[in-house]
Amino acid sequence: MKFLYVTDDDAGNYFTFVDRTVGDALRSETATPEQKSAVLYHTTAALVQATFSRPESPVLIRTNRTVVEHTVDAIASDPALLRTMAATFTLDYSLYTHAVHVATMGTALLLELFGTETRVKDAAMGYLLHDVGKCRVPSQILRKSGILTPMEMKEIERHPEHGVELMRPHDEVTDLAMDIILSHHEKLNGRGYPRRLPPERISVETRICTIVDVYDALTSHRVYKPALRGVEALTFMRDRMYEEIDTGLLKQLIHILGPRNNK
Ligand SMILES: [Fe+2]
Ligand SMILES: [Fe+2]
Repeated sequence: MKFLYVTDDDAGNYFTFVDRTVGDALRSETATPEQKSAVLYHTTAALVQATFSRPESPVLIRTNRTVVEHTVDAIASDPALLRTMAATFTLDYSLYTHAVHVATMGTALLLELFGTETRVKDAAMGYLLHDVGKCRVPSQILRKSGILTPMEMKEIERHPEHGVELMRPHDEVTDLAMDIILSHHEKLNGRGYPRRLPPERISVETRICTIVDVYDALTSHRVYKPALRGVEALTFMRDRMYEEIDTGLLKQLIHILGPRNNK
């Protein structure tokens, strides 16, 4: 594996370069699906990392939109790409790889259900940036491995509102994406946060984000818990979370991930 190190000053140029070239890489007829998915995965994770450190940057948000559009087009033209990408999902959790996992699975699920690509692209921006507000949560709280105090919990629960505040200046983040960022921790039993919304006010795009967000958290290794296998996570969600999540969408997730794809 080769790495490209980019200094802070060069980040704008790097992402302008990514903006132009990631589409060419995905359209390449000589690259294998594994190579294409690796390019997409690592580029997107690096982009998310840069975006978390500079969420105000128009060039970074524009590049997020470009990468999201390429991801949606690539999965739409080859649904099997989800399985290829999911096979490369790392077990080590980072906020940045998590964003890519949520965006990839959320996009695939939405395409499976609706296939209307502009709306899917708008939603996919929300999936990729759903936790961007965590960049305002102190890192010692995010990294804490023990039980969180009520105050620390409150700090973390502010990330959806931080996220919409940070993304408000950017036209590329549409109302649909903003709704996902703000509401992805709402629950269908009305006990979610930050607004304790009733189910009729939680959009299908946001419900999808919630499901893939939980699935990825359960199947990722964290300092305080081992990773569950895919099938264990899906069973846990079906049996223990049926009051909180949309079980119809969960069935669709099981369908698209398929038995081969359990982490
Ligand atoms: Fe979140
Ligand atoms: Fe998340």
